[in-house]
Amino acid sequence: MADHHALSMDAVDCPALAALRWDEPPEGPVIVLLDQRRLPSQEVELVCTDVPALVEAIRTLAVRGAPLLGIAGAYGVVLAAVRGFDADEAAGMLAGARPTAVNLAYGVRRALAAYHRAVDGGLSAERAAKAALAEARALHREDAEASERMAAHGLALLEELVPGGGYQLLTHCNTGALVSGGEGTAFAVAAAAHRAGQLRRLWVDETRPLLQGARLTAYEASRAGMAYTLLADNAAGSLFSSGEVDAVLIGADRVTADGSVANKVGSYPLAVLARYHHVPFVVVAPSTTLDFGTADGSGVEVEQRPGQEVTDFAVPGEAGTVASVPVAPVGTQVYNPAFDVTPPELVTAIVTENGVVSPVTKVGLAQLCARSRSG
Ligand code: MRU
Repeated sequence: MADHHALSMDAVDCPALAALRWDEPPEGPVIVLLDQRRLPSQEVELVCTDVPALVEAIRTLAVRGAPLLGIAGAYGVVLAAVRGFDADEAAGMLAGARPTAVNLAYGVRRALAAYHRAVDGGLSAERAAKAALAEARALHREDAEASERMAAHGLALLEELVPGGGYQLLTHCNTGALVSGGEGTAFAVAAAAHRAGQLRRLWVDETRPLLQGARLTAYEASRAGMAYTLLADNAAGSLFSSGEVDAVLIGADRVTADGSVANKVGSYPLAVLARYHHVPFVVVAPSTTLDFGTADGSGVEVEQRPGQEVTDFAVPGEAGTVASVPVAPVGTQVYNPAFDVTPPELVTAIVTENGVVSPVTKVGLAQLCARSRSG
């Protein structure tokens, strides 16, 4: 079951955004999400009391973005365990809710493994659920730490790639605190540049069809007091040609062993534009997004979303709901992949919490991973 609570988040006070939290009210443990479907016009919490409600929230993008999906998946296993739902069945439902972001299955696996380790060690179901909760909390904390380190590595990289500072950065989709336990991935780097007084402008792609850029990144940039400008996705080309982009910064839903990057649809065309215009194309992602089990981009399952997301425009409906207005003729066929895959040769650098890989090669990625394991 899911329930909505209104929130008061005065942008003037600007409290840190908490996209997801675990809560234990007297009625029993719940997962509380900031409902991203309703932002920016409404800041409303969605309270999930069971796994089906959380799965629905994942599928409909109330909670979204690779790192946060991992965190949600981990807490989802805990929710099942504490509420007496079969943890393995819950894990299957959660991991299958969306196919592309590798973090989701990773988070689910981690919490489930902690649960089973406890059960196999002879602990009660209650204690095993607590062990899973500790693991979910650890993942949540690690993601916040990874965010901070990616921001530092990313800022240092920008200083190298774009001498002179005063960066004009172009970003796509949403990669801030709404997708993370911390300040996010690519957005965290832009925020670090802003704090260092080095962000001249953040160009924000609207990111059709679900408008994560217009609704969410613009919301986060505005809260952070950044100089930002929103553009229609198809305006990016003219921006490059007028020399107003110093670097592209995006996140990732999955990075395969060869360095192919699956990210929000529209990322690949930006990489092609960036290469043509000699602009660095930088991917910022935590190591939990690296998928060494998939050799290259051809092995990534790209989620196909409902055609209605393209044939209709979403508009605010009654009582805080979202209504949709059809703009295409009835019966129009639609191509609506949620992600695309950028080959490694178009990626200037991949920034993780453990450092930067550039040029992006299979060996470089593997070495970074090995270094972080040994360090
Ligand atoms: O469909 P979404 O909104 O979940 O897609 C999110 C993205 O594509 C983000 O760019 C990606 O998860 C990287 S954010 C760390």
